[in-house]
Amino acid sequence: MLPTLAPETRSWLDDVHKKLCRKMPYAVEKARQVPWIPYSTRDGGWAPNAIDWWTNGFWPAAMWQMALATGDARYREEAVRTEIMLDDALAHFDILNHDAGFMWLISSGVRHALEDSAESYGRAMRAAQHLACRFNPNGFIRAWNGAHNAGWAIIDCMMNLPLLYWASRQTGDPRFRLMAERHADTAMRTFVRPDGSCHHIVAFDPVTGDVTDTPCGQGFAPGSSWSRGQAWGLYGFTLSWLQTGRREYLDTARRIAACFVSQLTEDGIPRCDLRQPAEPDLKDCAAGAIAAAGLIVLSRETEEREAAMFLEASLRMLRAMERTCVNWALDDPALLTRCTTAYHDPGGHHIAMVYADYFFIEAIEALRGQEMLFWAPDLRSAGKDGERP
Ligand code: GLY
Repeated sequence: MLPTLAPETRSWLDDVHKKLCRKMPYAVEKARQVPWIPYSTRDGGWAPNAIDWWTNGFWPAAMWQMALATGDARYREEAVRTEIMLDDALAHFDILNHDAGFMWLISSGVRHALEDSAESYGRAMRAAQHLACRFNPNGFIRAWNGAHNAGWAIIDCMMNLPLLYWASRQTGDPRFRLMAERHADTAMRTFVRPDGSCHHIVAFDPVTGDVTDTPCGQGFAPGSSWSRGQAWGLYGFTLSWLQTGRREYLDTARRIAACFVSQLTEDGIPRCDLRQPAEPDLKDCAAGAIAAAGLIVLSRETEEREAAMFLEASLRMLRAMERTCVNWALDDPALLTRCTTAYHDPGGHHIAMVYADYFFIEAIEALRGQEMLFWAPDLRSAGKDGERP
């Protein structure tokens, strides 16, 4: 359901949509000049990127968002072209990690929902099986590969769970959903602190399931609050609520969201870590875009006063980013410019990252009335007024 927005907000959204319609064909043209899927930019073009990189579902997903918003066939063509490129990663499944959800639900899962494509169904189902194989029976999904981290899980994985919910609905087999719920239960217990801030990484003993450590990850320090992790958590728990109806997931999402919103600085652009020192003033527009999109979905699930607060925070971030961080010029194919890979990665400070652009587009188009939730693409309209499993 569309939120009630002031006429001035609607006109701003339409204006941003028009700007997207000018910029995105240019971004597509640039993508067609390179043999990889867009991630970041360099020298006015898309920088080289590996086919197994975890963000590679976001470009085709951005294309589907634009296709739905405009009806322009060029976007569909680009979505399908890059979805097929991803087959090379699926063929080398041993190098994939838990991000199979990010990679195939919003690319192949979305195309399957829109076009009933059997090939896309097969890709998303193989990805779901891959993700399910990473489940540790102690109740968590293993994040990465490597000898020392067999027991590591990360908050980001909350956004990979929707692929498992999707696979259960598609097959009628509850195992996928049960693994997702077990992981969400563990994350609720071990990642989310009482004040709504989150650990990025929790290290479990892979044999006993005991928590052994909470390493720093991409934020400022162990015990700090990496803003993108907060954003993954707030949107991810919202999506688990929508697909299970379990109230504790909604309450967890609300708690994380309240923490995130209360820590927003005056300028409306999230810091890289909500507990970082005042200087340097490191920002992360990816956290802002993910949180803005998640808060829109969450606001539809909460009572009026809270919903208004979440929606207001979402719009505040979107407007601030649009005003000060989006590059609308046709001299570089990316939109958002101040994204940060990790606090302690100087080479990744204030760069472009394709998933920030994806979530920015998702948020703008959701507010303009785009109803399909890409994170549950087979549910016509997930949420208070839509379908529930
Ligand atoms: N999921 C990895 C990141 O947010 O950087």
